[in-house]
Amino acid sequence: MIEIKKLTKTFGSLVAVSDLDLQIGAGDIFGFIGPNGAGKTTTMRILVTLMEPTSGAVFIDGLDVTKKGKEVRRRVGYMPDFMGVYDDLKVFEYLEFFAAAFGIEYRKRKAIVDGVLELTDLVSKQDALVDSLSRGMQQRLGLARVLIHDPKVLILDEPASGLDPRARIEMRELLRELKWMGKTIMISSHILSELEEICDRIGIIEHGQLVFSGTPGRNPAPAGSPEQGPRASAGKRAPGGGVAVGPAADSER
Ligand SMILES: Nc1ncnc2c1ncn2[C@@H]1O[C@H](COP(=O)(O)OP(=O)(O)O)[C@@H](O)[C@H]1O
Ligand SMILES: [Mg+2]
Repeated sequence: MIEIKKLTKTFGSLVAVSDLDLQIGAGDIFGFIGPNGAGKTTTMRILVTLMEPTSGAVFIDGLDVTKKGKEVRRRVGYMPDFMGVYDDLKVFEYLEFFAAAFGIEYRKRKAIVDGVLELTDLVSKQDALVDSLSRGMQQRLGLARVLIHDPKVLILDEPASGLDPRARIEMRELLRELKWMGKTIMISSHILSELEEICDRIGIIEHGQLVFSGTPGRNPAPAGSPEQGPRASAGKRAPGGGVAVGPAADSER
């Protein structure tokens, strides 16, 4: 469903993404793991047509993102790492605004907004101001927003960051439900253990390069057998059986 071929993105002399190859199958939850500054957001922004690659190619549902932007955007829901601020906007107004922006007819909007509110468990908050929501609820609202045009593919940039444990569990349950609905999901994090148990596959990116891709958390494998376990260079085994990806290389912009 998502195919990334030799993707490179440079900013001046900085190589943010370097020769990245990655395939994500339809219906999979793929965890894109790496420390801050590794190139996750840059890759995701290219996937959703917000940024042009320097070289290489990306296909979503067989469509080249640089040539078929409009068709790609119809199939993709993107949740950025930071949501804007929406003073004085209520939850349902916020969602209706995006429904309108996606070109959904006026008479269909309410049913769609009600549906995503239910799915993300925000029905009781529909009249609350967006700014008054907890971080966990705001993240669920961000997901509700990207579901409005019923995209096949969800690209979620660090949706679990800053959530308390309970909100993180709720987020995980919501992601499972979305997988059930047949969505293909790419989700990033700088903490592997945050995602490990819900991901079908993971990829670890460091300094713009993929250092591991495979199945998470099973059989710590000898170095150099990438389909079984992360290589030693990708991080060390953490006590919980997870892999600790090294501390942030540099801070989030
Ligand atoms: N628009 C930009 N201009 C210049 N440098 C950028 C820009 N966006 C990202 N970078 C740099 O590219 C690298 C990768 O950043 P990013 O993709 O945001 O990483 P991550 O999301 O994994 O934290 C970082 O060194 C960052 O400073
Ligand atoms: Mg980022």
